[in-house]
Amino acid sequence: MKYQLLTLLLFLMAFSCKTKQAPNGKVPNEKTDLSENLPEEEVPIKTIPIVSPENFGNAAKNYAEYCAGCHGVKMEAFADVQRGWKHGTSKEAIAKSIKVGIPKNGMPSYDTTFTDKEIENLAAYIHSGVELFNSYGFENEPDNPTVFETSAGKVKAELVFDRADIPWGFAILPNGNLLVSDRKGDLYLKQGQESQKLKNVPDVKTTFQGGLLDVELHPNYAENGWIYVSYSKPNPKGGDSSTTAIFRAKISGNSLTEVEDIFVATPYLETGHHYGSKLFFDKNGYLFFTVGDRGKRDINPQSLKNHCGKVHRIKDDGSIPKDNPFVKVAGAMKSIYSYGHRNPQGLVVNMENGTIWESEHGPRGGDELNIVMPGKNYGWPIVSYGINYNGTTFTDKTSDSKFKGPETYWVPSIAPCGMTMITNNKYGDWKGDVLIGSLRFDYVNKVSIKDDVILGEEQLFPKIGRVRNVEMGSDGFLYVAVEDPGRVYKMVPVQ
Ligand code: HEC
Repeated sequence: MKYQLLTLLLFLMAFSCKTKQAPNGKVPNEKTDLSENLPEEEVPIKTIPIVSPENFGNAAKNYAEYCAGCHGVKMEAFADVQRGWKHGTSKEAIAKSIKVGIPKNGMPSYDTTFTDKEIENLAAYIHSGVELFNSYGFENEPDNPTVFETSAGKVKAELVFDRADIPWGFAILPNGNLLVSDRKGDLYLKQGQESQKLKNVPDVKTTFQGGLLDVELHPNYAENGWIYVSYSKPNPKGGDSSTTAIFRAKISGNSLTEVEDIFVATPYLETGHHYGSKLFFDKNGYLFFTVGDRGKRDINPQSLKNHCGKVHRIKDDGSIPKDNPFVKVAGAMKSIYSYGHRNPQGLVVNMENGTIWESEHGPRGGDELNIVMPGKNYGWPIVSYGINYNGTTFTDKTSDSKFKGPETYWVPSIAPCGMTMITNNKYGDWKGDVLIGSLRFDYVNKVSIKDDVILGEEQLFPKIGRVRNVEMGSDGFLYVAVEDPGRVYKMVPVQ
């Protein structure tokens, strides 16, 4: 009798779990959503058709080679409805953007790369591609696969959050609540099934790559309640300039309290890209973080007199550790830990041996995975494995004894975004491996590492979406955030 009851209970539980969650994370419609009935591995993947390339000369090839890295293989970045088109959607306006570029915001000029005819073809190709893309509304989003084969066996993606557009940063609180920053300036707190926008978030500059960036908890969060958030701070004196900054705050009810900037990078600049900015606390309670070169590659990364193109180390209240490498150098910014970086958007510290891993977006090709060491110069832009986006070279040097070189690099660029380290035995033998999101190729790149030596790489979770961030939760599970539409998945090994 006891057993019969138990079986009934288990049956009911299994049944109720099954009907709650659709494989693609959407609320299932029992009558029409046929995919509900398929085993998860067989959920068909709808893809957005790419414009037929025949009609546009070699535009498709040129697009894939020169543009897809920034604008997405399927022109996703042009379909960013939230930001809209800034420079016109006619073929003429598009051609002008390509020809002269928009250097202030990181769009290179292709005047010397292509003939006028090639530019015209590219403009026509993009013009029709965007129309096609826009005809695919949110409802027709491709079903993202949810169960993935990996070297650690099957891993299932469980949707835990789907409100933000670009979930740039997130953290799992010790009570299981989820904190997510949306780049457009909202900070969400998800408690149980409810998520709400927190009030009293500082003003952020949300144009181009700017916005609310990474989120990190203080190592003693359970006792002191501090959260840390990096963001693009508008210049309080007005005007168009902004900079990378970090505030800390506490959460009280549905609002932030005790909000204070603990770091503001100098100088404020009018460019709208390469802000960095990933945060990570090491086991001594130091906060490491990254600031990108802000698009001023010939001024910022090699000078110690500004904060841009650097990895920094500060204490939890923003003060400078006494033994930072440049504290005694006249005129140098005291928070600098290493320099000569481009746009680092991945950072993790191995809590067992203290090694700091950092990834950065290179120019075209030449994305790097570095081990960051105090006082070292990583050489940007004097040495690089990449070339300029418009195909010209700016340096013939890939290495120099003056600089510390990368542990590995990626050509073509994977657009590395977000980084974490597997810290437990939940995922086969991945403990100690570094995971890096690929914004460009919609997968997570795993680099297997032993004693700081790279042994190999594996592409995980293909087609999961444009990966913006990866984190280990305080529950020991891996989480992956993708954008457009913004989602956070908990990656659960399937027994
Ligand atoms: C290094 C990254 C990068 C590459 C490579 C790049 N772009 Fe851009 N592009 C940008 C950015 C950033 C903007 C936004 C500038 C702005 O809004 O002011 C942009 C804007 C544009 C625009 C104008 C969009 C608007 O809002 O009006 C067009 C058209 C465009 N790019 C086409 C291309 C084409 C075609 C290529 C390849 C030949 C290309 N881009 C390569 C970064 C890039």
